[in-house]
Amino acid sequence: MRLDKFFSDATGMSRKDAKRQIGKGNVTCNGEVEKRAAYVVAEQDEIAWHGEQLSIAGNLYIMLNKPPGFVCSTADPEHPTVLELVDVVSRTPLHAAGRLDIDTTGLVLLTNDGQWSHRITSPQHQCEKRYRVELADPITDEQIKQLEQGVLLRNEDTPTLPAKVAVIDVQEILISISEGRYHQVKRMLAAVGNHVDALHREAIGPIELDKDLELGESRYLTDEEIVWVG
Ligand code: URA
Repeated sequence: MRLDKFFSDATGMSRKDAKRQIGKGNVTCNGEVEKRAAYVVAEQDEIAWHGEQLSIAGNLYIMLNKPPGFVCSTADPEHPTVLELVDVVSRTPLHAAGRLDIDTTGLVLLTNDGQWSHRITSPQHQCEKRYRVELADPITDEQIKQLEQGVLLRNEDTPTLPAKVAVIDVQEILISISEGRYHQVKRMLAAVGNHVDALHREAIGPIELDKDLELGESRYLTDEEIVWVG
């Protein structure tokens, strides 16, 4: 496919505007400015516009280390959204595959592939998520036992699925859960008589938050990370 067609498909701009952007030297192919609108884009070529990678395959898969203060919805009248933290050009809007609370930090997966995100979020798939939790009070053996058995949350009829708990310190644990109920970790800890002071998601299934990502930073998923869900 010609570069101007690729550019216009990826951005939604007209072919005329695409040619203009290419002619101005705003488009790179594998890091080098490419001014030929007729250049034929190869499958492995990385095309970028003002440094932002473009894709027409349509599907984008990104991991973000969410900072506090951002919401995971696509639009919010009061708070900035996680989408404002990623610099991608995509015709189909991105969404978060599973939400974190505004004050929770850590791994958020962003995509424009609804089927892929459904496999992560649908209760049927019981995808495991691991959280690092700072607690207000020291964790007790009895609290761990209850969490590992499943607890009845306030205003709910069925207990949670059993969680996996690893104690890091008396007031710091790792908890892995396979559901996505509203404020689930905070409510589970409240139900056993403790309180979450800080919550950070470290993993979704086998996808671990990249330790090189500072809060607010993101990167594309690798093929292996994408395929796991597929
Ligand atoms: N559980 C919570 O309570 N909050 C989150 O953000 C994620 C899981």
